[in-house]
Amino acid sequence: MSDRPVDKPWREKYLVFGAPSIGAAERAEVLACIESGWLGAGPRVAEFERRLAAYLAAPVAVAVNSCTAALHLALRVLDLPLGSEVITTAMTFCATANAIVHAGHEPVFADCDRATLNIDVKDVRRKITPRTRAIVPVHFAGRPCVMGPLMQLASQHGLAVVEDAAHALEATIDGRHCGTLGDFGCFSFYVTKSLTTVEGGMVVPRDPRRAARIKTLALHGMSADAWQRYGDEGFVHYEVEEPGFKYNLTDFAASIGLHQLAGLDERWRRRQTLWRFYEQQLADLPLTLPAPPAPNTRHALHLFTCLVDDTRTDLARDRVLARLHALRIGAGVHYRPVHQHPWYRRSTGDRTGTLPNAEWIGARTFSLPLSAGMTDEDAADVVRALRHIFT
Ligand SMILES: Cc1ncc(COP(=O)(O)O)c(C=O)c1O
Repeated sequence: MSDRPVDKPWREKYLVFGAPSIGAAERAEVLACIESGWLGAGPRVAEFERRLAAYLAAPVAVAVNSCTAALHLALRVLDLPLGSEVITTAMTFCATANAIVHAGHEPVFADCDRATLNIDVKDVRRKITPRTRAIVPVHFAGRPCVMGPLMQLASQHGLAVVEDAAHALEATIDGRHCGTLGDFGCFSFYVTKSLTTVEGGMVVPRDPRRAARIKTLALHGMSADAWQRYGDEGFVHYEVEEPGFKYNLTDFAASIGLHQLAGLDERWRRRQTLWRFYEQQLADLPLTLPAPPAPNTRHALHLFTCLVDDTRTDLARDRVLARLHALRIGAGVHYRPVHQHPWYRRSTGDRTGTLPNAEWIGARTFSLPLSAGMTDEDAADVVRALRHIFT
């Protein structure tokens, strides 16, 4: 029987998808920050930026309050003509495309590769027109895109590249970090990410001279930030250089980030153990598991995405999700393709059918819990639940 009417959960506690691991050091730093009397953007943000840049071997990093803000700012400081076409993948979170719209441009979706789920460079080439000005690749689930051919294509056509590295803080290609290869890299520190500040993000410009304008735009366009105005060196007046946004990170959030960064590799190794366990234990189920990492790359192991193999089971993806939920296992969907969401359908015309791989994956994909804080028993429960569902 593949579709029993009732699934009796054996777990008492719901296994939360993407639960963060916040340790004693983070808690102590948050308390120290509160006691310091300075919670807004200040010295802890500056230290977090320095350490993150050092981790990435990047010249500079600018902290903001989300990856969405990072993408928006990166696209803004490029100063592209309004209404430019910006090519991105349909297989991404809506924020990637929304940021293009917020910057005043038109997202043009390229299809993804069925095996890697990353943007298909051949389709990017097909989508380039005289109005194209930039490409926004996404290192999907933490797997590096093929940046060599993509950068070559961009330079042939004079296009900027903004890497959406929301999933890919630990990812590298030939030892170089994803997010440091294009003109800008944008990172996310949302709660489900491998490094969290609850909400947060980082813009990493390849050219360090661009950092000052990003910083200004991230804080209303003001010439002096709050720490400079009210800090221990005395009051300083500010000037508004251009109308900016309220995108700054806070010291309160950076308190968590500083110590999350210190534990990043240890948490990656824990996810690697869980990843291998899933690979071994799920190999015989009617699922397509993530493709093995490409040579000379490091996968950030952010999402363990499975595809329901409908040649081997009648169970639809949404039914699998409902049954996992009934068994108290939280799962995710990354993603239903962006062009199929109502606003994109209305604004660009219904393109359903034109991005076949993204649509095919969007109907079959689901992601298993993969957090460093999971116990071996938690992971065994996920496997047990899937075995129960598929037998
Ligand atoms: C691929 C991708 N890009 C951008 C974002 C936006 O990140 P944030 O929530 O930090 O704005 C996310 C968030 O999950 C994402 O998955």
